[in-house]
Amino acid sequence: MTGFGPAVDAALEACVVPGFSRIGLAIRSRLLPEYTADGHPGLDGRTILITGATSGIGYAAAVALARKGAAVHFLARDRGRAERARRGIAAASGSTSISYGLADLEDLDAVRAFARQFCATHDRLDVLIHNAGAVHPEFRTDTAGTELTIAGQVIAPFLLTRMLMPALVAAAPSRVIAVSSGGMYTQRLDLSTLQLPAARYRGVTAYARAKRAQVALSREWARRLAGTGVAFHAMHPGWVDTPGVAAALPGFRQVMRPLLLSPEQGADTISWLATAPQMSLGSGRFWHDRRARPEYPLPWTRETDPGTARKLWDHLAAVTATDSPEDGAGGAGQRGCRSVIPLPGQG
Ligand SMILES: NC(=O)c1ccc[n+]([C@@H]2O[C@H](COP(=O)([O-])OP(=O)(O)OC[C@H]3O[C@@H](n4cnc5c(N)ncnc54)[C@H](OP(=O)(O)O)[C@@H]3O)[C@@H](O)[C@H]2O)c1
Repeated sequence: MTGFGPAVDAALEACVVPGFSRIGLAIRSRLLPEYTADGHPGLDGRTILITGATSGIGYAAAVALARKGAAVHFLARDRGRAERARRGIAAASGSTSISYGLADLEDLDAVRAFARQFCATHDRLDVLIHNAGAVHPEFRTDTAGTELTIAGQVIAPFLLTRMLMPALVAAAPSRVIAVSSGGMYTQRLDLSTLQLPAARYRGVTAYARAKRAQVALSREWARRLAGTGVAFHAMHPGWVDTPGVAAALPGFRQVMRPLLLSPEQGADTISWLATAPQMSLGSGRFWHDRRARPEYPLPWTRETDPGTARKLWDHLAAVTATDSPEDGAGGAGQRGCRSVIPLPGQG
């Protein structure tokens, strides 16, 4: 190991611009053993499910994971974009094991149907990657009155994790990876303000709060599922030049473009977390550039109530409770989700 590597890494972590950009990755990939000694085995025989693989980081992660030999199934909301991505991922990776299902994550009934369909066709799931995400400039709600950032980026990933848990347990050691954002560093998890009211809505704030919640939930899943062989990792990719950034932050992209990571670079820690030996990763940690990072570099963003993540998890368990005998229990034709696995620590 290069002696001064960790010190340089820590200095980069303290400075946002170099740390989140191409500069940080270029330096870390030359100095840190996580990069220089990466000899992880391939993913032959493994099944990976990733959301949001039609574009940007998710597309690049799907290509990287398919190249390592995994069968990649992805969730997409538009059939035309999904089919284009399937063909592109297959061509770029040389894999014939690329498939998809359709659901908009902001429609929880569609997410349930997607999970049932997955379970009907798969016995096991080795890696679940919650990658899909976006900034919504306007305040909009679903039919239940939930603001769409929260519905699609907090509730839907929880519901998917919950419904696919039997398939994850069947494949243990398995893992769930949540793609968060460094934007969450500015926000505190507070259940009373997680959903912004329409009058005070700001898309980037709603997004950052949802990303903070994803990380807290990943830690909470890890705590509750300790000992099951299912591990949970949250990460942030840094600043990546993707269609999502171009749409949400055009001014930022224009100024920062020379320093932004490519989608392939942004996907690197995701595919590394999917392949690194489970023992070396633990569970419930937050990662950036292949290293575990503190969740609260700004101390004032730490939860005032240490039980907040537990309460959020309990709330989501209640709002995603099965409303059909098929969900989680597995009706006829269910494979990977055929057994009822009660959520741990409930009630
Ligand atoms: N780029 C960055 O600098 C950056 C930084 C921090 C975190 N992230 C996170 O990285 C992840 C990927 O972002 P990206 O930059 O690669 O953005 P992107 O290019 O816009 O890709 C986003 C993907 O998510 C899908 N998606 C969005 N909303 C969805 C919904 N409601 N239902 C189903 N699919 C949905 C999109 O599908 P469509 O093709 O149908 O739109 C697309 O495949 C996101 O979670 C983002 O928050 C990115």
